[in-house]
This record gives sequence, structure tokens and C-alpha cells, in this order.
Amino acid sequence: MRTLTLGNTGPRTSALGLGCMGMSALYGEADRTESIATIHAALEAGVTLLDTGDFYAMGHNEMLIGEALRSAPAARREQALTSVKFGALRDPDGGWSGYDGRPAAVKNFAAYSLQRLGVDHIDVYRIARIDPDVPVEETVGAIAELVEKGYVRHIGLSEVGAGTIRRAAATAPISDLQIEYSLISRGIEAEILPTVAELGIGVTAYGVLSRGLISGHFTRDRKLAANDFRAMSPRFQGENLDRNLDLVEALRKIADQKGVSVAQTAIAWVLAQGPRHGASIVPLVGARTRARLDEALGALDVTLDAADLAAIEEAVPAGAAAGSRYPDSQMAHLDSEH
Ligand SMILES: NC(=O)c1ccc[n+]([C@@H]2O[C@H](COP(=O)([O-])OP(=O)(O)OC[C@H]3O[C@@H](n4cnc5c(N)ncnc54)[C@H](OP(=O)(O)O)[C@@H]3O)[C@@H](O)[C@H]2O)c1
Repeated sequence: MRTLTLGNTGPRTSALGLGCMGMSALYGEADRTESIATIHAALEAGVTLLDTGDFYAMGHNEMLIGEALRSAPAARREQALTSVKFGALRDPDGGWSGYDGRPAAVKNFAAYSLQRLGVDHIDVYRIARIDPDVPVEETVGAIAELVEKGYVRHIGLSEVGAGTIRRAAATAPISDLQIEYSLISRGIEAEILPTVAELGIGVTAYGVLSRGLISGHFTRDRKLAANDFRAMSPRFQGENLDRNLDLVEALRKIADQKGVSVAQTAIAWVLAQGPRHGASIVPLVGARTRARLDEALGALDVTLDAADLAAIEEAVPAGAAAGSRYPDSQMAHLDSEH
């Protein structure tokens, strides 16, 4: 497994991380046994970075990871890095009711996460969305106190723009920014990527398959549960979906020529962007089964030369996606989009 250091001050991690969200929430039913087998298979393959959020099914995802870590061989468990998001407030009925980044709340969230994960420290800790009522310096300052006490090793950010990145970095060392980045979500290239490259901050890229849309496996007739994020995502609706799947077919032609899958091509494209932009970029793949994980890991063996990258970007030009990456109500919470 290739490894790299996240930014100037972050941990050394596998070149691909495993995003565990879909094992508990947002993408419909998941199989618990297969989820744990997938985490074990990832650790066995040398994937060290496991990403979660305390609000993914209200602690369910952290407890799942905790169980997987407890039942993994000690050597694998010790290599694992936990990357945890906090701050989103939930209702018992599954609703979302804002964000809390107050220092006392940060410490409270962390105390519960440590218990659910069954670990004595969290490797990277970050607020999922900025709390508009709390200056980022206060939230990051509270995590810095947790670092001093040994409960957290590194401070991350999530979905914030260049101005907030600079303020956070002036408060404490930042290991990485977690943000959506894929062939069809390239908004970070204008200002955010140059900023993190300048400041020596890494990127953990999520949605590299645009939540399955550009995986090559998503079909027009796929039925989505009402609580599936994609049932509300503009990119998965009606004509937008048709246009986006046309882009996937254009990408498939290139993948076929190279003898690799569409998902591998899309992940390999993100892997190729780190050296291009002078930043350490680690794609978080949202595999929920060992078969999807195997496919994703295959991306590490795909080499894209300049001609391949040009062909891919001709097939899927920047800005070609139909529909925004979140519904309007959720776009409003993205500091990175303002
Ligand atoms: N910071 C943030 O705001 C934020 C937001 C969202 C996510 N995240 C993190 O980023 C992680 C990754 O995000 P994501 O799950 O949206 O990413 P993704 O990898 O773009 O999408 C995962 C979806 O792609 C499908 N897929 C098809 N082929 C795949 C393959 N070979 N490998 C992996 N997935 C494949 C999966 O389908 P099936 O399982 O249905 O087959 C799954 O539904 C999350 O788990 C979470 O930890 C962070």
C-alpha cells in the first residue's frame, strides 16, 4: 500500500482511505456483517484511514468501527487511524437541527466518540460544518486543547473555504481539509486547493464517485429509499440524472480502452490530482462491500498519463455536471461555497 503524509503536520496514511458513512446511513440499507468484513479487508490491504462522523446514524457508525477494530488483529488495529467529524445535531426521528461548535460541546462530543470507538485517542478530529454562531478559532482552539491532553492527535477541517482555512491555520496546525472532490465536483480547484497547498494542509477527498453516480454501477431505474441522500440530491433527479449518466458513458469509453473500470478511472483521476496541485490528496472511498473495496483498491494500480488525463477531462469537462452537489438547504451550510 502506498502511503503519504497528510499536509506538513498530519499523520502518515494509506493513499486511499475508507469512508464508512454508507455502512450506517444515507445510502439506504447496509449489511452489518459485510460492513465489518469490508473494514477488516481494508485494514488487511493496508488501508489505515477510517473516516466517520458521530452523527452518522447517531453513533451507529462509530460503534460499528469500534466493533471492527476490536475484532481485527492487533497489528491492524494499531495501524488504523480514526478520522471523526462532529458538530451536527440530530433529532430522535433522524432529523437534522443545526451545528454546535462551542468549546464545551466539542469536548462533550469527543468524550462520547472515544467511548463509542473504544479508543484512547482520535487521530483526526474536525467539525463537519462551521457553526455560524461560533468563531472557527474557538472550535479549533477547543480541539487544540484536546490535542494537548492527548485525546486527539491532529486537527482537520471539513467543507470550509479559503478564508476560514487561513483563520483555522493561524489558530493551530491543521492536518487536512475534508471536502468533496471528483471529476464532476471540481469547485475546489479555483481557490481552496491553492490555499491548502500554500499552507501545507492535506486533503481527504470525499464523493470521489459522486456518491456512486460516476461509479459506472448507478442506473437510471435504481429505486432509492426516501431517506437515501440521493433521493434529494439534485444530481440524481430527472433530466439531471440523464445528463450525468451520459457523462459516465463517455468516461466508460476511456475506461474500456484502458481495460479498467469506470470507478477505478474516477478514483485514479483524483489520485493524480495531488501531484498536479502540489497537495497531498487522499480519496476516501465509500465502499460498503468487499467487492466494491477490491474495485476501489484497483485504482491504485491505474496509471494515468497526460494523454489519459486530457481524454478524461474532455469526456467529463469541468463544470459539466447537471445539478448542484447538495440540495439548496444543505448548500447554505457549506462555508466552502460562499
Ligand atoms: N465531510 C463531509 O462533509 C462528508 C460528506 C459526505 C461523505 N463524507 C465522508 O466521505 C466518505 C466517502 O463519501 P461517499 O460515500 O459519498 O463517496 P463515494 O465513494 O463517492 O460514494 C460511495 C457510493 O458509491 C458506490 N460505489 C460504486 N462502486 C464503488 C466502488 N468501487 N467503491 C466505492 N463505492 C462504490 C457505493 O455504492 P453501493 O454501496 O450502493 O454499491 C456507494 O453508494 C463517506 O463515507 C464519509 O466518511 C464526508
